[in-house]
Amino acid sequence: MRILSGVKPTGRPHLGNYFGAMRQFIELQAEGDGFYFVADLHALDLLRDAEQMREYQIGVALDYMALGLDPERCTLFFQSDVPEVSELQWILGSVTPLGQLQRAHAYKDALAKGKEVGFGLFAYPVLMAADILLYRSDVVPVGKDQKQHVEMTRDIAVKFNMIYCPDFDPETGEGGVLKLPAPMILEDVAVVPGTDGRKMSKSYGNTIQLFAPDKQIKKSIMGIVTDSTPVEDPKDPEACNVFALLQLCLGEDEEAEIRAQYAAGGVGYGAFKKRLLDKFHANFDAARVRREELAKNLDYVHDVLRKGAAHARAVGGEVLLDVQKACGLRA
Ligand code: TRP
Repeated sequence: MRILSGVKPTGRPHLGNYFGAMRQFIELQAEGDGFYFVADLHALDLLRDAEQMREYQIGVALDYMALGLDPERCTLFFQSDVPEVSELQWILGSVTPLGQLQRAHAYKDALAKGKEVGFGLFAYPVLMAADILLYRSDVVPVGKDQKQHVEMTRDIAVKFNMIYCPDFDPETGEGGVLKLPAPMILEDVAVVPGTDGRKMSKSYGNTIQLFAPDKQIKKSIMGIVTDSTPVEDPKDPEACNVFALLQLCLGEDEEAEIRAQYAAGGVGYGAFKKRLLDKFHANFDAARVRREELAKNLDYVHDVLRKGAAHARAVGGEVLLDVQKACGLRA
C-alpha cells in the first residue's frame, strides 16, 4: 500500500502542527510504503523570499527526520526535485474543467477575501492531483481542510481514464492508467489551543514551537493565558489552556493526578505551566537534539533527499510514460 502526503514548507513547526498532523504521518510510516515530500512548488504561491524558501524547505526535512521519519523505511524528497510532477500537472490540467477549479475552497476563499489570485492558487488542485497520481498512491493522509483536494484528484483521474483508457470502469476504478486514491482524514485531536486560547496558529502568533531555543519555549509556556482564580481555589481543568496542552502530553495516570490537583485547589497555574514545560522537554528533547545533529550534518540530509528523489523519479517516470502513451504523446 502506497501512502503519500506532502507538507508545505511555510514556517517553523509548533505543537499544533505536531498533534494535528506530523505525529500521525510519522506513525503511518509503519503501515505501508510511505512517500513523503516537501511541497515546495505549492509553497511558491505564498512564500516569495528565496532565503526563507531555502530555510523552510530543508527545515521540513530536518523536522520530520528529527521527529522520527525514517529514511530507511520511507521515501523522503523535495517535490521540486521530481520534474515529472510538473509535466503530469500539465497533462492533467488539460482535462480538468474550469468549473471544477472554480469550486475549490481555497480559490473561492481567496476570491471572497478580495485577495490577488494567481495561476498558482487556481491550479493548486491540479498540481496536488499530479503529486498523488504520479506515484499511484493508494492512501493520502491529510487534514480535513485537504479532503476536497483529494476528491478533486479522484475526479481528475476518472476524467483522464474515461477519455483515454477504453477498459476503464469508473464503478470499480479498474482498467485505468491512473489509480484512484482514497483520502485518509486525520482525526481531529481535540483542538490544540495556542497560548492565548485561540486555535494554535502561526497567523495568530500564539504558537509554542517545537524547535525554538529553551528560553523561547519557556517564555511561550509561561505566557499562556489563564483566568485569575486564586492559588487556593479549585480550578476547572476543562476551561484551562494549560490543561488542554498538558492533556496532549500526559499519560492517563498523570492526567488523573493533575485533574485531582485542579479540583482540590492549592496549586497555582504557574505550577501547572511548569509541569507543562517539563513535559514538553521530556517529550521533545530527544528530537530537538537530533535536529541539531542533523543540521550539523546537512550532507547526510541532502543525500537522503537525493536518494528519495531518485526513487520517486523512477516510480513516477514509469507512470508518466504510461500517461504519455495513453494520450498519444509517446508511441
Ligand atoms: N496541500 C497540502 C497542504 O496544504 C500539501 C500537499 C501538496 C499535499 N501536495 C500534496 C498533501 C499531496 C497530500 C498529497 O497541506
